[in-house]
Amino acid sequence: MPSFAVWCCEARDPEIPVGIKWETDPGSFLTRCSLTLSASEGLIFGKRLMASSLGWKRWGLLQAVASCGFFLFPWSHCSRRRMGSFLDPEIRAFLEESTEVTSSGSLTPEIRLRLLTPKCKFWWERADLWPYSDPYWAVYWPGGQALSRYLLDNPDVVRGKSVLDLGNGCGATAIAAHMSGASRILANDIDPVAGMAITLNCELNQLSPFPILTKNILNLEQDQWDLVVLGDMLYDEALADSLHGWLKKCIWTFGTQVLIGDPGRSPCSGHSIWHDLHKVAEYSLTEATRQQNNGLTTSAVWDFQP
Ligand SMILES: C[S@@+](CC[C@H](N)C(=O)[O-])C[C@H]1O[C@@H](n2cnc3c(N)ncnc32)[C@H](O)[C@@H]1O
Repeated sequence: MPSFAVWCCEARDPEIPVGIKWETDPGSFLTRCSLTLSASEGLIFGKRLMASSLGWKRWGLLQAVASCGFFLFPWSHCSRRRMGSFLDPEIRAFLEESTEVTSSGSLTPEIRLRLLTPKCKFWWERADLWPYSDPYWAVYWPGGQALSRYLLDNPDVVRGKSVLDLGNGCGATAIAAHMSGASRILANDIDPVAGMAITLNCELNQLSPFPILTKNILNLEQDQWDLVVLGDMLYDEALADSLHGWLKKCIWTFGTQVLIGDPGRSPCSGHSIWHDLHKVAEYSLTEATRQQNNGLTTSAVWDFQP
């Protein structure tokens, strides 16, 4: 196993300013729920609650998506959820046995990833058996796909640069930056298990692992980066607010370039950050990604210029 530098690893911050409000049709059994991301709850989508009320016939429900275009993640109901360090060999073993190595179905077939697929036990298994927080790292999101494709096709954008991948998830965008010659990379995600996912995915692609930070840095002072990349992070108003302010400061303080991969989901399509986004590339999603994302057909890369 290759060695790697660990800058910091902290459990999910209960104060992370991320929230989701979900309203259903008046008269439905779930009239309103207002949900937040916290250490105890995780990220919850309203439809998932509806699905759980329906009895979780199969985890095939994962393939259904909320109207915002995201998967349903049933794991947050699990009382046995563990946190732990992403260096924990138990987490490694669990991820290895719970995911499938795949390079098909995305915009970047040159990157191999461990993802949750219909061949995996937990795609079909009972939700309450999943022991960790919601596995956003187990999906390669349309925003991350577009951004990674862009970095692979335009290596000049990253070559020789220091790059921060904010909200790395499976880590494909950080891996793409590495493949395109970035001189320094930091992968950051608030989910410690995503730290292990990106470590495993680096190994799969025969890359020297890069530093990983599992801590909410949106509450901290900005560091100097040549380029900050974010894939599929604009799914929630409060998170978009935090990102908007934090990224502006990166640019104004250090002249950082900020590239955002995003398919333009409706929950945040009216957010003021969109006034500062300029499209630099658009990609047609693969059939597999379309099916898993509620009819989304394209995803784009945006240059953030406040
Ligand atoms: C939809 S996933 C996108 C993952 C990956 N970038 C991709 O495109 O495949 C969003 C990711 O952002 C992470 N996240 C949410 N809030 C965050 C924050 N404040 N700081 C860092 N990561 C965060 C989540 O844990 C999750 O892994």
